[in-house]
Amino acid sequence: MPTSLKPLLGVLEGRRLDVPPIWLMRQAGRYLPEYRALRAEKGGFLALATDPEAAAEVTLQPIRRFGFDGAILFSDILMVPWALGQDLSFGVGEGPRLTPPLVDHALGALERAPERLEPVYATVARVARALPTETTFLGFAGSPWTVATYMVNGSGSKDQGETRAFAYRDEAAFAEIVGAILELTVEYLARQITAGVEAVQLFDSWAGSLSPEQFERWVIAPNAEIVTRLRERCPGVPIIGFPKGAGAKLAAYAAGVAPDAIGLDETVDPVWADGALPAGMPVQGNLDPLALLTGGETLDRGVDRVLAAFPERPHLFNLGHGIGQHTPIANVERLIARVRRDVRG
Ligand code: CP3
Repeated sequence: MPTSLKPLLGVLEGRRLDVPPIWLMRQAGRYLPEYRALRAEKGGFLALATDPEAAAEVTLQPIRRFGFDGAILFSDILMVPWALGQDLSFGVGEGPRLTPPLVDHALGALERAPERLEPVYATVARVARALPTETTFLGFAGSPWTVATYMVNGSGSKDQGETRAFAYRDEAAFAEIVGAILELTVEYLARQITAGVEAVQLFDSWAGSLSPEQFERWVIAPNAEIVTRLRERCPGVPIIGFPKGAGAKLAAYAAGVAPDAIGLDETVDPVWADGALPAGMPVQGNLDPLALLTGGETLDRGVDRVLAAFPERPHLFNLGHGIGQHTPIANVERLIARVRRDVRG
């Protein structure tokens, strides 16, 4: 199908549609019984993510069930630290762990293992062959700041304090970590594109914890470099930037990074964003995942508010962050029907 007939890709290319295309961050995951079954069979998240047949199946599950306009590659932002040589594990109920944490181990002592990314490219190729022609295929990577917070701390953290302090204390060492992530991320995204994704998203999930000056240095500058270099290697492939928690710094991000589209988290007033962002820049978002969890009129009101906020701007409907694992499937169906006003669903 010509790209112009894929609604989601069309919006990323700057076209406005009256019924916005929809996909959900973390749409492949634990709220789906078919995901839980396959994950249990494979024995864990990493086993699932490194098995191209299984990872492709998980990528396709929400497309089959809901007919979303976009499919997002099933993988994780922490595959890059894994390929940079840290050990990666996902314990049940405790989140990811990277060892050794770089807060007290040198980056240079890690043994790089780029071959760990090969199953991801194989997954992409499989999904690209199997997707319905109207569905847009999205790849992704974590942005350097967010990935660095996991690499330095060795796990998730409440306010990324360990990494923020490290970046002040030893700026040269931190710049080296960010640089290594950046290099591999450009390669990783270019390879995803070569294998078949049609657009990519840069997740900067912890962009919100930085002061304005550090935001310029560790969020805007590296994301801008990734965008520039990826456009050189893969011209015409749209890039969605998602600096979660950036708030009023979204305008500086849009100007400095110049992504093709920008993701809004649920704390951003979409009416404000419509006024503050460059005219015509497509936006993605930004229903509160907890409104989706709650359902009913709370959900309907939230959906209508987001839909009304962008009367002229190209808009992709999404949540402000990932879908929660306890979200009822009926609420997802209700969301899609309301966004599509039952005309396409
Ligand atoms: O969106 C999708 O459906 C595609 C797959 C995807 C996953 N992780 C699968 C996953 C994507 C795009 C991500 C991105 C990701 N991973 C981010 C950025 C987005 C965000 O949520 O802010 C971050 C920070 C991570 C790191 C990560 N991975 C954490 C903190 C966790 C544990 C928390 C949790 O939700 O369990 C993961 C594990 C993970 N990644 C799961 C999934 C489906 C759950 C693993 C399981 O099945 O137990």
